[in-house]
Amino acid sequence: MTSQHLLIITGAKNKPDLARRVSPGLRISLITRQEMWHTVWDMEKFERVIVLPDDTGDAEWLALARTIHALDPIDAVGNFTEKDLDKAAAIAADLDINWHSAETVQAVGDKFWMRRRLLETGVDETPCEVVTSPEDLREAAERLGYPLICKPRRGISSQGISRLAGPEDLDGAFAWSSGGTRDLDSTDLIVERFHAGDEYSVECLSEDGRHLVVSITKKFADREHFVELGHVVPAPLDPQTTTRIADTVTRMLDALGVRDTATHTEIILTGDAVRIVETHLRPGGDRITNMVAAVTGVDMPDAAARRYLGQSVLAEAEQAVAAYETASDKQCAAIRYAMPSTVGRVTAVEGVEAASKLPGVQEVTVMKKPGSELTQLTGSGARAGFAWALGASQEEATARAQAAVDELRFEVEPGTP
Ligand SMILES: Nc1ncnc2c1ncn2[C@@H]1O[C@H](COP(=O)(O)OP(=O)(O)O)[C@@H](O)[C@H]1O
Ligand SMILES: [Mg+2]
Repeated sequence: MTSQHLLIITGAKNKPDLARRVSPGLRISLITRQEMWHTVWDMEKFERVIVLPDDTGDAEWLALARTIHALDPIDAVGNFTEKDLDKAAAIAADLDINWHSAETVQAVGDKFWMRRRLLETGVDETPCEVVTSPEDLREAAERLGYPLICKPRRGISSQGISRLAGPEDLDGAFAWSSGGTRDLDSTDLIVERFHAGDEYSVECLSEDGRHLVVSITKKFADREHFVELGHVVPAPLDPQTTTRIADTVTRMLDALGVRDTATHTEIILTGDAVRIVETHLRPGGDRITNMVAAVTGVDMPDAAARRYLGQSVLAEAEQAVAAYETASDKQCAAIRYAMPSTVGRVTAVEGVEAASKLPGVQEVTVMKKPGSELTQLTGSGARAGFAWALGASQEEATARAQAAVDELRFEVEPGTP
């Protein structure tokens, strides 16, 4: 087999290494935008890198991709971020490369569009409206009824999520959610029915339109600003609920036209109903994929890269999942985040080594290193560190991860905001 040529759009980080591992000799070109330039970790890994101003239009992206293709034919397109998926879809369609359609990318990235598709297809009827002013929000809230969630239409990373219990929350919610659109491509907000209940994420692998639920993860979140505090894999669920979740998520993937990739879907269980929060055309973050790989043996980022490069992944993953489900000594994994209540500049972080040596602990990482600021909880970026651990049960894995996080001590210089 001759070596392949992959065009990565926008995000790079460790992806060149990952892609080359699954396709030896792979050549990689990158077109990215200035805002994402920091994700180019190593220029040497690319045949060529093109960096565009953030407001560059589709026509220029397309023309540059065509030029690269003329010089060195492109076999595959990859984008492992939530930005510029529309550009990647347009380029892949133009070069006749198998990738997500423009409609799929739109339905996944735009939370209002997603709600419309899911309503039309009967998968999830959560009422939802677009709002662009406090007045819009008030009117929509009157129509929809409380409690509600207001959030950026194209939101990521839990930024700008507001819960509205009643009209007294309107102004604060609008301000908070609008503040969350600062780094996004759209300032629109949506308001939708608030779903009470436990939250889960569902890791799926799709190949030629066939979907496999690899794992379901239970999430623990801060109830005020919805920042994730921890996860446990697999989620403790009875078989009926597992089937219901798998059925809804599979129908959602079909409704949105997802056919070939790893996806990470967030859901809420409200009584018996499975409510979709959002999905992503990429594997989960927050070390979920590491934990899923550790317990089931399915490496989601690896499978996603292989899928984009045209390799079959489903049969192998199905076997691994079936083996895990029937195993008598199932391992579980959990991650917990450190959320220090202090505010100020970090001067020292103690306890990392002791935490790493605790039973079952696989990784301890400090995000707020000395010199960085501890602020009040405003998004997943405010988390100060994490640990994840394996155990023989969900409880044991969670207790072990929590014990490791409890070892971490953040010394701060008080007074700075
Ligand atoms: N309709 C809803 N009902 C209840 N909680 C919600 C709803 N929408 C969002 N949330 C909460 O806010 C979090 C972030 O929302 P999400 O749409 O996933 O945004 P992001 O793209 O920033 O992750 C969810 O994980 C969930 O905890
Ligand atoms: Mg989310």
